[in-house]
Amino acid sequence: MTAPVLALVGATGAVGTVMIDIMNTRSDFPWGEVRLIASPRSAGKKINVRGQDLTVVALSPEAFDGVDIAMFDVPDEVSAQWAPIAAERGAIAIDNSGAFRMDADVPLVVPEVNADQIDNRPRGIIANPNCTTLSMMASLGALHREFELKELVVASYQAASGAGQSGIDRLYAEIAALAGKEAGVAAGDVAQVLAAAGLSADDSPFPAPLVLNVVPWAGSLKDAGWSSEELKVRNEARKILGIPDLKVSATCVRVPVVTTHSLSVHATFAREVTVEAAHKIFEEQPTIVLIDDPAAGKFPTPADVVGGDPTYVGRVRQALDFPNTLDFFVCGDNLRKGAALNTYEVAEELAKRL
Ligand SMILES: NC(=O)c1ccc[n+]([C@@H]2O[C@H](COP(=O)([O-])OP(=O)(O)OC[C@H]3O[C@@H](n4cnc5c(N)ncnc54)[C@H](OP(=O)(O)O)[C@@H]3O)[C@@H](O)[C@H]2O)c1
Repeated sequence: MTAPVLALVGATGAVGTVMIDIMNTRSDFPWGEVRLIASPRSAGKKINVRGQDLTVVALSPEAFDGVDIAMFDVPDEVSAQWAPIAAERGAIAIDNSGAFRMDADVPLVVPEVNADQIDNRPRGIIANPNCTTLSMMASLGALHREFELKELVVASYQAASGAGQSGIDRLYAEIAALAGKEAGVAAGDVAQVLAAAGLSADDSPFPAPLVLNVVPWAGSLKDAGWSSEELKVRNEARKILGIPDLKVSATCVRVPVVTTHSLSVHATFAREVTVEAAHKIFEEQPTIVLIDDPAAGKFPTPADVVGGDPTYVGRVRQALDFPNTLDFFVCGDNLRKGAALNTYEVAEELAKRL
């Protein structure tokens, strides 16, 4: 059998760039050809993949001819239009946008949780979850297999890069505007300092200053005061875990971290669960790193885990006042497992099945 052909649509974007890095550092590389695709703006650009300078081609129906698997790292509306075209041309599309995640005919896959769903793709499209949901899925999936998850209360601590390159640029610009200011003055007066430095609140992807602050908002306003990000956590967790009636309550908060989302998780199970049993499960899961020794000051923080592939788990505690309930803290790089890596892992699983 000839080696499969892989296309990367959105090769020039923030997630696409991390995807190229993943391709360049993977030990096994099952692809016979890699095709890089972006908008006409980027056509002709050269990007090095495993020692070869590949030329970016403009998105077109013909770009998918001969392609076995097409990964989409493009805005929702581009995926909505083009992933079905790739599928019509015979490719399996793996989409990182929000266009298909809740489509009943499109599986939402995290390989270590529901790899079996990869084969259930009537539209020829597989969706990749939102980065906030994804960051806690390896740990919750492993616990659910053993103890049966019933209820979930989470608070996120989301990085600026979850809002794309503009989020990263804004946080650095806000940090630069405060540099050299006396901390006491700046902390109480951040908005004025930013305005004086020419950083208009209207130009920010965040609804409040992010530097020296936390912002309890991500996404757009939905019914009854919920944000779109909070509803994604609820709906996507239910779909990935295959628990349609899972009780979920999420509060999504943006923090002044460049990359790596964290979540505080309060999870209630059908059966009794101990810290020791949870530790054992986390230690046995190859994609989780357990760092849980608070007496020695050891727990995961975004600064320690950014750039890494695994999900990091710590602060595992048995809830004092809630039966069958664990509290723990999770950190995951939102641009790697939270986006590019999970998509690439799905592509690798598909390559084994072709
Ligand atoms: N940032 C995150 O943490 C994150 C996490 C999970 C999922 N996602 C999702 O992943 C997707 C990509 O996000 P990103 O942050 O990488 O965005 P980005 O940096 O804005 O990159 C967008 C990519 O899409 C291409 N593109 C845009 N319009 C196009 C068109 N009409 N035809 C062909 N290509 C087009 C761009 O090509 P040009 O360079 O030629 O314009 C670029 O390669 C989005 O759906 C996003 O929601 C992002």
